[in-house]
Amino acid sequence: MEARDSVGTIAVIGLGTMGTGIAEVVARHGFAVRAIDIDDATVSDARQRIEASTDRAVARDKLTVSERSEILDRILFTTNLQECLTSDIVIEAVPENLELKRQVLGQLDGLLPDRVIWCTNTSSLSVTEISTAVSQPSRVVGLHFFNPAPVQDFVEIVRTVVTDDEVVEQIRVFAEQIGKQAVICEDKAGFIANSLLFGYLNHAASMFEQKYASREDIDAAMRLGCGLPMGPLALLDLIGLDTSYQILDTMYRQGRDRLHAPSPILKHMVTAGLKGRKSGRGFYTYAEPGSPEIVADDHVAKRDASDVSVRGVNAVGVVGSGTMATGIIEVFAKVHHRNHGFG
Ligand SMILES: NC(=O)c1ccc[n+]([C@@H]2O[C@H](COP(=O)([O-])OP(=O)(O)OC[C@H]3O[C@@H](n4cnc5c(N)ncnc54)[C@H](O)[C@@H]3O)[C@@H](O)[C@H]2O)c1
Repeated sequence: MEARDSVGTIAVIGLGTMGTGIAEVVARHGFAVRAIDIDDATVSDARQRIEASTDRAVARDKLTVSERSEILDRILFTTNLQECLTSDIVIEAVPENLELKRQVLGQLDGLLPDRVIWCTNTSSLSVTEISTAVSQPSRVVGLHFFNPAPVQDFVEIVRTVVTDDEVVEQIRVFAEQIGKQAVICEDKAGFIANSLLFGYLNHAASMFEQKYASREDIDAAMRLGCGLPMGPLALLDLIGLDTSYQILDTMYRQGRDRLHAPSPILKHMVTAGLKGRKSGRGFYTYAEPGSPEIVADDHVAKRDASDVSVRGVNAVGVVGSGTMATGIIEVFAKVHHRNHGFG
């Protein structure tokens, strides 16, 4: 893969769940990256995560060994903000807190070339309010990646009332260059996807809180019943419960839609340090912080049927002949055929 020298460098600020993935995907598409966080331990953790992820890509023949080392060479991991002063694009992915985001952009204002485009990966904050932290708000857009950033080939580009059309177009082209299909929307809390998604995730957390069903059954209902790739509680764990709480809280404050009033359990879990996959425990327990592997814990639903006597079923009557009845008959007929053959 050829390095895109002419575009200069891309700074990614904040190397948590999102920033690490964004730095990886940008470097994989040939751009030089300045990957920045506040402390050495986080920076070194981000490097290890990108090394592990690109290692897996080599093992799956998605990258060659030399492509992998070129990608890693393209990323400068640092805690020194000065390293990003020649960047053409700055992507901030620090926690979902308006003052923090404004402070991160504000401290770089005036130090970067005039051509710089500022992108915020905020999920729910006002891009307009973030944009006024710099002296050229017309060069600020939301560039909302989805989690995991290297896998989800989609971004939302959020324009404010003052964003230059040319800036939106440049970021649309950049998104294409890093393999993402982009949609463009106005600056409204949650943009398109999250304003639809988070009401549903919040409802699932409430169902769990009210002990309406087990976590496994809530997730199975949406995976198997609705064909979604992941259940809502597993998805909340992946997003991060702290981030999810902040997103819901912001959307609720802006829109006052009670669907977005964060379910109390989210706040309790975050306060107790259960932040989801990133901390090793959320609705589920994981092999270690950051691991996708779910391990057994005290909350596994009790499904031991050994002491329940079940009568054998020989015949099933289905009443009705509509869409559902026909499907149900087909299911039982298939089981009968599997067990007894024709006849
Ligand atoms: N988690 C998701 O699924 C998801 C998806 C899309 C967008 N987002 C958005 O992306 C942003 C980051 O979310 P996240 O889940 O990656 O958060 P995170 O908590 O996992 O990571 C944030 C990182 O920012 C670093 N940081 C804090 N202050 C900093 C500073 N002053 N300078 C540099 N780095 C600093 C932290 O050390 C941490 O590593 C948020 O705005 C969030 O809403 C998150």
